[in-house]
Amino acid sequence: MNPHESKTPALALTLAFAAVVLFSSGTLHAQSAPKQIAVPPPPMGWSSWNSFSNTIDSEIALRQAKAMISTGMQKAGYRYIHIDEGWWLGERDKDGNIVVDPKAWPALAPGERAGDMANIVRAIHALGLKAGIYTDAGANGCSTVGPDLGPSYPNTGSEGHYEQDFLQFARWGFDYVKIDWCGGAKEKLDPAIQYAEIARAIVRAESITGHRLYFSICNWGENSPWTWAPNIGGVPADIWRTSGDIVAPIVANSKNGGRTASFPGVLSNFDQGIHPEAQHTGFYNDPDMMVVGMKGLSDAQNRVHMSLWAISGAPLMVGADLTKLSDATRATLTNPAVIAIDQDALGLQAVKVAETTKGLEVWSKPLSTPGERAVLLFNRTGAAASIAANWSDLGLLDSSSAAVKDPWLGKDLGDFDHSYTSTVPPGNAVLLLVRGRERNRARYATPLTARQGPDMHGASVSKDHPLTFTHVSSRARIARIEIAYTNSGDATVFAELRVNGQTATRIAFPPTGSDNSAGVIWIQSLLDRSGPDNVLSFSAPCDPGPNIESISLE
Ligand code: GLA
Repeated sequence: MNPHESKTPALALTLAFAAVVLFSSGTLHAQSAPKQIAVPPPPMGWSSWNSFSNTIDSEIALRQAKAMISTGMQKAGYRYIHIDEGWWLGERDKDGNIVVDPKAWPALAPGERAGDMANIVRAIHALGLKAGIYTDAGANGCSTVGPDLGPSYPNTGSEGHYEQDFLQFARWGFDYVKIDWCGGAKEKLDPAIQYAEIARAIVRAESITGHRLYFSICNWGENSPWTWAPNIGGVPADIWRTSGDIVAPIVANSKNGGRTASFPGVLSNFDQGIHPEAQHTGFYNDPDMMVVGMKGLSDAQNRVHMSLWAISGAPLMVGADLTKLSDATRATLTNPAVIAIDQDALGLQAVKVAETTKGLEVWSKPLSTPGERAVLLFNRTGAAASIAANWSDLGLLDSSSAAVKDPWLGKDLGDFDHSYTSTVPPGNAVLLLVRGRERNRARYATPLTARQGPDMHGASVSKDHPLTFTHVSSRARIARIEIAYTNSGDATVFAELRVNGQTATRIAFPPTGSDNSAGVIWIQSLLDRSGPDNVLSFSAPCDPGPNIESISLE
């Protein structure tokens, strides 16, 4: 069955020559095609920081929540009303419990007590939305270290109170928590250690309350969080900031009202947010809240910004004041086809696939419909230029024509052979949906020696039994890897993948159903060895791990 089967002992799970089965395009689906497992999408919502700085209070949060509904943003998929810095001024009671200003956070319904954050959460939930809250990993948060508006407030961080604070957030009913790094950086703490502790406090709070808290890490890319943040502390999904803030808050009628957002700032955050090997199965790079609709950007730049966040599969957290959106901004933020690119069930990030002339870039994000890519033709030069997307650069069969759509206009542009070319104005971009045919993929079956029984198709990866595929090759340097696996339990399990001794990444394997049928997830990895010399090694951080049947690469 496998002519290259390894003669290594059964549990040494190393394959000298991986079995390679070539599927022609299409037959992959004709074979008992394992089902695509949808992974948690990046979060969508609104955050108070960019437009309200530390002036956030109950009234502002409620007004924005109502506007999220009246603008059609909730319908488009936006959910979170995130209360950023300024909600808490650092006071605790004698037991260490957070105390907030009762005037800023009053009772909103009969029977409620002023100064209870559960009030605003209930009001947000009653609107069918979700609520987010903010703290710092250090003892003295950003309010102390560098307040934006207003005086400096000490002790606005959670250090020394992780278990207490995250339990409190969950008890108040919050659904999302963003943890900043001003205090952590000031104290020269190690973010990988602190955020792991925080993650464990979140997991603990969830198990006590039964209430899920989505984990948003905000340390601006310090110490490369993409290398340690996926699944940190056992969380099933999370996001991590990859850079600093695009803009300092622009608060109307304040001393900061004159600030403007800058397009180069948007592009810089986009560039710093690209780490495709870490973004998969529900773990996302976060290039910051969007500044779409804020002062400083034209409508065309807002569309480029939204296109960049969509192909990045970035969290879509809006920073603009939702009560003041122009029609054009609203249309940009709620375009269903563009949002669908961002939220696609594969959960992958775009990769730059061509730049034949400096500044004329072609980006491609693989989507869950086989053969479909979101493609961005991006002109970063100062003059209009024509940019071509070649099917072969997108990993599509060059011999088949592909259908091209404009997602912004919802318009079919026709069927094209080999490539699609467009003239792109300077500083602008053309977003496309290209649907062609997948190129052939090579399938590497789990070695027979690694299987747990003659009828098993895969090998259970466990703490003591890693699984290694050797002699793996890929056409693209950033390889798209399809992993077929089973997980018949009802909880997501995890494995770590290390490629050629690079930094490992944690991958989530959601349940595939109790009927033992396989599912597939996708990741992207840097295969830095040319030819068939790459080694992919899966191990489980804790038991049980997934049962891996095969990997397939183009
Ligand atoms: C940092 C974060 C911002 C915001 C502010 C609050 O700058 O990156 O997103 O939370 O702190 O002070």
